[in-house]
Amino acid sequence: MLLWREIRAANTAAVVLLLLSVGGLGQGRDSSVEAKPRRILLDTDVDTDDFFALLYLLKLNRSEFELEAVTINTNAWTTAGHAVNQIYDILFMMGRDDVAVGVGGDGGIMEDGTILPNVGGYLPIIEQGMTTAGYCRYRQAIPVGLGGRLDIDSNYGLRKSFLPQGKRRYSPLRQPTTQQVMIEKVSAGPITVIVTGAHTNFAIFLMSHPHLKKNIEHIYVMGGGVRSKNPTGCCPANASSSCKPQQCGDRGNVHTDYTSNPYAEFNIFGDPFAAYQVIHSGIPVTLVPLDATNTIPITKQFFDTFEQSQSTYEAQYCFKSLKITRDTWFDDQFYTENAR
Ligand SMILES: *[C@@H]1O[C@H](CO)[C@@H](O)[C@H](O)[C@H]1NC(C)=O
Ligand SMILES: *[C@@H]1O[C@H](CO)[C@@H](O)[C@H](O)[C@H]1NC(C)=O
Repeated sequence: MLLWREIRAANTAAVVLLLLSVGGLGQGRDSSVEAKPRRILLDTDVDTDDFFALLYLLKLNRSEFELEAVTINTNAWTTAGHAVNQIYDILFMMGRDDVAVGVGGDGGIMEDGTILPNVGGYLPIIEQGMTTAGYCRYRQAIPVGLGGRLDIDSNYGLRKSFLPQGKRRYSPLRQPTTQQVMIEKVSAGPITVIVTGAHTNFAIFLMSHPHLKKNIEHIYVMGGGVRSKNPTGCCPANASSSCKPQQCGDRGNVHTDYTSNPYAEFNIFGDPFAAYQVIHSGIPVTLVPLDATNTIPITKQFFDTFEQSQSTYEAQYCFKSLKITRDTWFDDQFYTENAR
């Protein structure tokens, strides 16, 4: 029922790996040359793992890595207003009100059924323009938790109770769209794009502005599974009463749709056509799939060490978020299920 938390935990690990690989690139640059910082655009669905990634990016040395924009995919885990405000508040806490924030996928359909071209991502691309009420893979596949979507939308209430609030606020018709922000930031010069949600926003951008591809230096994708061992599954040899042998093998993480999509990973499943566009864009892509994320579990030792190291507000916010995920876990196997 609440298996989606496993996905989120696995994704948290993915984000750490993803960022380690970005960091590695930075170190490879020639330090004798006065290098400009690597400009970064993050496209995110603002789930818990994603704002961990955002904070990680904001902690990097700005002379080397400059986060310029956050664009939001509102089709999966969060709704537009909540997602934008969560990002605004985090940026305010980190003293970064200069980072542009664009929203995709909200309010993009007029009453007469017209889908506005610059919004993007209300539906997976292949279904846009064909229907306004089609099978929405995003929301239908994402299980609703005990508090509906409130836990995700408001980060269990932690957002308002903990994060300071600045002047920036979501405003439905005035909020810059993801496409506007992508055009502005990519036009301005070489940039690295990190995608940690479904690919709808970025694919729409690439398809509608192919001449701007030359400015994109590299794409990092948290998504997919190549030969991933399901960290929460088990094989018949080890089968116990709590074991689900059908989860054996190189499985994906779409727990809600295992029967029809056993190998799918959520971010690719959300919009496969968009992922195809991104991966076949001709721009260098580094994929950080489930295979990688499953190798860095959240162990009890990690959790306990983290609990002892909370000297900053951002560490406190991350720890509170991780702790409430653990404390509301659907069984008592939080560590073991994330350790396999
Ligand atoms: C940040 O990076 C710049 C450029 O590489 C370097 O000169 C500076 O010492 C770094 N600052 C910190 C605090 O590491
Ligand atoms: C699962 O089964 C394999 C093969 O039978 C065995 O090597 C492994 O130790 C078992 N793992 C656990 C956790 O029991």
